[in-house]
Amino acid sequence: MNEKQWDRLAENYHDEVISPFLGDVENPIQDELKKIKNKKSKSVAEFGCGLFYLGKKLSGYFKDVHASDFSKKMVEKAKKRNKQYKNINIIREDITNILYKNRFDIIISVNSLLMPSLNDIKLSLKNIRDALKKDGLCFLILPSMESILYHGMLLYHKDLKNKKEHIAKRTSKIKFENKKYDHFLGHYKDGSEIQKFYYKHEITYLMKKTGFKNIEIKKVLYPWGKDISDHEDFPKEDKLWDWFVKAEK
Ligand SMILES: C[S@@+](CC[C@H](N)C(=O)[O-])C[C@H]1O[C@@H](n2cnc3c(N)ncnc32)[C@H](O)[C@@H]1O
Repeated sequence: MNEKQWDRLAENYHDEVISPFLGDVENPIQDELKKIKNKKSKSVAEFGCGLFYLGKKLSGYFKDVHASDFSKKMVEKAKKRNKQYKNINIIREDITNILYKNRFDIIISVNSLLMPSLNDIKLSLKNIRDALKKDGLCFLILPSMESILYHGMLLYHKDLKNKKEHIAKRTSKIKFENKKYDHFLGHYKDGSEIQKFYYKHEITYLMKKTGFKNIEIKKVLYPWGKDISDHEDFPKEDKLWDWFVKAEK
């Protein structure tokens, strides 16, 4: 999605985007931020901050806070939401163009490396690593392709209970919106909008190739409910997830 498409989403953000900071989401980033020592002497940045839900928490924890987004509307709204926090600086910039060197102790990027171009993703990860100080920490949240496929499997099994197999295969693929996914690239295409989803093996590979060390990958778990799927949810089954990534420069 481009800047204009994100500008449009800024208007109805809560309705359109499932946030790992709202509701009963189990998000490892909260504990990871708590664990960081000497936070009051450290600087943090969030790239692709959207409305900057993390603003209040980061402002309280860290010495200075930088946040940015390439969408003009998101930046305007993020500034309004966080205007009372004096150590926060919010600007408009594109993560594929940032040129910071050894500037931040911690960098966060939450569901913002969604661009369909692998070159743009590789560049963004390189820019994040360059912007970190030596031994700096990076926290990413990335949409999970495995979670999508797992949900598809649940849809198929459910339909198989009361339909012939060839029918269940067809109906569940329709509910899954199979035609909108490119499973090879991890892309979901809806009209002109394409969003990237990540396989765990792909994240490990990308992070290693970018030069990150001590890479840890966990799940951000989402509660079942109407936000998760237009079709069905499965409250008795394991939850859906995004990938949480912790890595060091
Ligand atoms: C799903 S929202 C997440 C916002 C926020 N991190 C959160 O979790 O609430 C994705 C955000 O990334 C921003 N974004 C996408 N591509 C970007 C890029 N190349 N540079 C900067 N921001 C970008 C979008 O404008 C949008 O605000």
